[in-house]
Amino acid sequence: MTLRGRTLVASGFHAPERGGVEEFRDAVIEIGADGTIAAVRHPGSDGYSVSNDALHLPEGQILLPGFVDLHVHAPQYPQLGSALDVPLEDWLHRHTFPLEARYADLGFAERVYRLLVADLLACGTTTALYFATVHVEATKLLADLCLKAGQRALIGKVAMDHPETCPDYYRDGSAAEAVAGTRAVIDHIRGLPGNDGLVQPVVTPRFIPACSDAALRGLGALAQETGCRVQSHVSESDWEHSHVQARHGCSDAQSLHHFGLMTPGSVFAHGNFLSPPDMELLRSNRSGVAHCPLSNAYFAGAAFPLRAALDRGLRVGLGSDISGGPAGTIWETARMAVAAARMLESGVDPDLPPAQRSAHPGARIDMATAFHLATAGGAAALELPVGSFRPGLQFDAMLIDPTAPQGTLRLWPGQSGALLLERILYGTSRANIARVWVSGRQVA
Ligand code: GUN
Ligand code: FE
Repeated sequence: MTLRGRTLVASGFHAPERGGVEEFRDAVIEIGADGTIAAVRHPGSDGYSVSNDALHLPEGQILLPGFVDLHVHAPQYPQLGSALDVPLEDWLHRHTFPLEARYADLGFAERVYRLLVADLLACGTTTALYFATVHVEATKLLADLCLKAGQRALIGKVAMDHPETCPDYYRDGSAAEAVAGTRAVIDHIRGLPGNDGLVQPVVTPRFIPACSDAALRGLGALAQETGCRVQSHVSESDWEHSHVQARHGCSDAQSLHHFGLMTPGSVFAHGNFLSPPDMELLRSNRSGVAHCPLSNAYFAGAAFPLRAALDRGLRVGLGSDISGGPAGTIWETARMAVAAARMLESGVDPDLPPAQRSAHPGARIDMATAFHLATAGGAAALELPVGSFRPGLQFDAMLIDPTAPQGTLRLWPGQSGALLLERILYGTSRANIARVWVSGRQVA
């Protein structure tokens, strides 16, 4: 059912600011005809009244903002939860590039992409920042499917033309081809009938090692010309970091900036080896980081210093990095973000005395912070008007049913506030997600 033009009475949580989860009960939420939240009124506040035609969400069900996933490799969905036992470079060449090459086949692409978009929506991912593959037609198809399914999606054709790091069977034939293909996808997405900005194109150099300097230069110019956001990987692994040092004599972040690829609303994945000046470069260019803690545990060989990045004012959201980890939703990603930060703080080597185990005192985050990153934090990184129930934002939301018989969420009498939210975030599974809306339209 569409909520456009309706008034809701709902209870739930949101976290518009980091460190500030707000619980609301029987809030009256007015949704405009275009899916924008027109007004939110709380019991006891000026003008609070419940009209006869207001829609009351079922008692006991909990409204949350939809999740923003800042890093998804759509074509890697078929290998989610497999091939996790090899180093990143082996994984790319032995498993990932062969799989991605199969998207030359549009029938295969359609089967996978249709299922992925439906699964992510059903799990509450209302916004996704997608890497597709090098193929122009399959990337256009992903955009068509997202628009049809009603998912807020930012999508890029992967650009990768470097003959020394990319296999001949899977790369752009030249820098010019990488740029022209990217432009073709931008034009397609911007021209899609009925697309009012729900689906947007993104300039997507895979990562610096995979791109020639000519491609990086051309893509930077294209991003500036078209105003598109950029997505890539930054300082994910030691290997990537050293490659860029050796080739360009600077850090990964500096190189992206040099080529004009660090633009407002752009998002770079991982960032495990970012230095303080790199973080400052991202911050001052209004670019953000997709924190991918599940993937980092398997492939990066390091944990992202999340607390330090937040303290430096960096924009950070969460990324599932399908399939650089065993799970594809922001639920598991948020849980791992808390665990990874705890391990960074406490250290992991029992042979060291406690005082020497970790160089990151104060690194932990709590679940409320992870919830903020999963919603408003990701939205802020992308500069999208979503992520909480503040007036003026789009109504992207999910409704949690703690009584769903197939679900894993169990709530107990007396739980409320921060502890209740924490219970919901750790306990919810797909069956507990009763409804999902994007821009006021029901999508799952
Ligand atoms: N670096 C370049 N490509 C990839 C990818 O597909 N996944 C991850 N995790 N890192 C990458
Ligand atoms: Fe990735």
